[in-house]
Amino acid sequence: MSHPQSLEETFRAALGHLCAFLRFPSISTQADHREDMRSCAMWVDALLRDSGLESRIEETGGHPCVLAKSPRDPSKRTVLIYGHYDVQPPDPLDEWETPPFEPVVRDGRIFARGSTDNKGQILAHILGVAETLRERGALPVNVIFLIEGEEEIGSPSLPGALERLKEELAADVAVVSDTGLVADAYPTLTYALRGIMALEFRVLGPVRDLHSGFFGGAVANPLDAAARLLASLHDAEGRVAVAGFYDAVRPVADWEKKASAALPVSDEDIRALAGVDVLTGEPGYSAMDRIGARPTVDVNGFGGGYQGEGTKTVLPKEAFVKLTCRLVPNQAPREIQRLVSEHLKERCPPGVRLEILPGHHGDPFFMDPDSPFGRAARRALVRAFGREPALLREGGSIPIVADFQKILGIETLLLGLASPDNQAHSPNENFPLANLEWGIRLNKAALEEIARESAD
Ligand code: BES
Ligand code: MN
Repeated sequence: MSHPQSLEETFRAALGHLCAFLRFPSISTQADHREDMRSCAMWVDALLRDSGLESRIEETGGHPCVLAKSPRDPSKRTVLIYGHYDVQPPDPLDEWETPPFEPVVRDGRIFARGSTDNKGQILAHILGVAETLRERGALPVNVIFLIEGEEEIGSPSLPGALERLKEELAADVAVVSDTGLVADAYPTLTYALRGIMALEFRVLGPVRDLHSGFFGGAVANPLDAAARLLASLHDAEGRVAVAGFYDAVRPVADWEKKASAALPVSDEDIRALAGVDVLTGEPGYSAMDRIGARPTVDVNGFGGGYQGEGTKTVLPKEAFVKLTCRLVPNQAPREIQRLVSEHLKERCPPGVRLEILPGHHGDPFFMDPDSPFGRAARRALVRAFGREPALLREGGSIPIVADFQKILGIETLLLGLASPDNQAHSPNENFPLANLEWGIRLNKAALEEIARESAD
């Protein structure tokens, strides 16, 4: 097991593993890919075993998890390293320069669906642990890997598994690399994540699609009603107009304002990354604060009526809308679901019927970057990247992180490795190979610094 490798050999092996991992079309939301999901989990399981850990596939009722452990030394701290092997659908396919599940390296970046989110990032941790074991024969802490297959669909089966495996998963702290670097090569400790609440609604009108010449003008149009409902969700300035929506929002502390002002990102950077002419949103906040510290209502899908070529004079019988809210500490997803549903019901125009279908939700997350493990994380970031880390509130959601707090009683150190222009969830998702190397270094430094941190 322990033969020395040259740097060149190590790098080539790492790239080989990353390519193999990226070739699985592990799309959790599509039933057609059930078997690909399982094959991918089995590949991860085998890699962890080859790395020197005890590993197994853990059934969840949904897509399986991979659970791996180093031999438990009771005198050492235990670190839970979490990641996910599932990916978002690659659509729209024709906007990819190369196929999404055929990884290629261009300009030092590997392009494939899942390269950043989350295969490249979790692989850095696996390779870091494997290297330490190869070089030293032991780790500074006990390690548990939990790598799931349902993160991109809201982790429906994982809280149950956490409850069931509570004792086996007992740890001092969790480490997750599934967030971003605030700027390229800029170490970042993410201390907050937004939560999420998903909701669909349908607006139902006439019993069938109607001729708009025979009926138009006298019968309510579901698409028009849906558009009015959507427009009512924000005021003219860009604030969410749902009564009570902001009530539970935790005020931003002074140290957070300082941290936010010190971030090496401007509104202009974000405008350029998004490829838009101007940024919009809630008045009185920078783009980073709108994204990290403020809640939103986003329309993710809106449809109905004729979508084919040319025109069709139809008065459609229904419209559908998909919404998500990004929530911040201390908003409660279920309460927000209730407030938004009430808002829509009260405003549904006459002549149509509203059907609300509540979706998944996840709590927001917040931790203290000055806690003992928070400080350990910051020291590790300094060691791996050679500079003081930024402290960031991320706009994305990783709902299971709040469950680590609630169910396992542990904090999570969010040590993201994604570059700002990673294109996650978009065509041409990519991950710089340099970030893989930083990630391996960060894994080693983090485990050492956590081991050093005395009990609080
Ligand atoms: N890696 C992301 C979370 C993330 C996104 C962190 C952006 C930082 C910035 C994660 O895989 C993800 O996409 N999560 C989903 C969760 C949802 C489906 C419940 C998200 O945020 O949309
Ligand atoms: Mn992810």
